[in-house]
Amino acid sequence: MNNYCLEVIRADLTQTRTIELPGPAELTLAHGEAVISVKRFGLTANNITYGVAGDIIGYWQFFPAEGDYGRIPVWGVGTVIDPGQTDLKAGDEYYGYYPMASYLVVKPTHVTARGFTDGAEHRGALPPTYNQYSLMTAANGFDRQHDSHRMVYYPLFITGFVLDDYLFDHDFFNADKIILSSASSKTSFSLAFLLKRNRERHVVGLTSSGNKAFVESMGLYDEVVTYDTVETMDASSNIAYVDMAGNRKVLESVHHHFGDNVTCSCGVGITHWDSRDGAEPSNLPGAKPTMFFAPTQIQKRHKEWGPEKLQAEMQNAWTEFLDSVDGWVTINERKGADQMRETYQEVLHGAAPDQSFAISL
Ligand SMILES: NC(=O)c1ccc[n+]([C@@H]2O[C@H](COP(=O)([O-])OP(=O)(O)OC[C@H]3O[C@@H](n4cnc5c(N)ncnc54)[C@H](OP(=O)(O)O)[C@@H]3O)[C@@H](O)[C@H]2O)c1
Repeated sequence: MNNYCLEVIRADLTQTRTIELPGPAELTLAHGEAVISVKRFGLTANNITYGVAGDIIGYWQFFPAEGDYGRIPVWGVGTVIDPGQTDLKAGDEYYGYYPMASYLVVKPTHVTARGFTDGAEHRGALPPTYNQYSLMTAANGFDRQHDSHRMVYYPLFITGFVLDDYLFDHDFFNADKIILSSASSKTSFSLAFLLKRNRERHVVGLTSSGNKAFVESMGLYDEVVTYDTVETMDASSNIAYVDMAGNRKVLESVHHHFGDNVTCSCGVGITHWDSRDGAEPSNLPGAKPTMFFAPTQIQKRHKEWGPEKLQAEMQNAWTEFLDSVDGWVTINERKGADQMRETYQEVLHGAAPDQSFAISL
């Protein structure tokens, strides 16, 4: 197959199919449409979460599929192969949100030297951040030596950046300790990296027993605790819980153990996507679990700091992170339809935390 797309059954993410797509030359583009060839993308638990939360947040609507199937979005790099009658230029490369497919048809609007917005009707009601594509120039902050890092880590690192700032902005909710679940995940260790860099707080990494040694080896957490030993922790001081795992049983054990000393319970992810049974979060002792919404904090800083300062802060932190991350995790380069499908299954079932994946098509 020269042109293909990986789809999953929306109600059962373990079931996939690879379908053949028509060649780009066979497409009849509507006025204002262009074709971008998807070259490479990263794949982590974050993408699995897009599938798990597909119906709630609308992730399935970015790249609609037929029947029971859905197309999971990924962060990647694409090249314009047919600009149609748009302001895009053939050969220009864009970083953004793509399906796991050979190409994407877009309807570019607001085309500038920074990038464009996909104005396709079916994406109109979705969060604007995901509809923006950045032109990969040095002026736009792209260091092309780090394309794989950008695809794999950047969206997760920026979430860590915003969380670090959010906690600081709320005076850490008067907590003495910050506990991060799925401490081995890239989003959690990005946050742990930033808390260590920026703040003097005691940070606890909560992880599975199989990943404890890895989490300890990173040296980012003051303490590493496994999910089955939450009850052994000192519960006398206030804690802020930042939940990347979304595991209801773990959430329950943290809230019951720390009780009213849970001053913040911030839901960010669901890496434990198959462990969602358990008590309704609203019935737990301590602060009510709430979902974190990064754009709110970004917009706040946009207003307070201005876009230049915000961008510079992110860029400085990212550059420092790049100096360290290869010492913790190896990026595996994979290629083609078969390896894409195999890697998806590997990530779905919980890949080793010291390995990450960049797929080329
Ligand atoms: N709300 C937002 O804006 C936002 C933004 C970015 C990321 N996130 C979320 O943050 C979470 C982390 O994403 P990531 O890409 O950083 O993850 P990642 O690095 O791929 O996470 C890997 C870790 O997740 C746990 N895990 C993964 N698959 C599992 C499975 N099948 N069973 C049990 N544990 C599993 C394991 O950690 P442990 O053993 O340590 O639990 C594993 O080491 C995702 O849910 C993502 O959606 C949210």
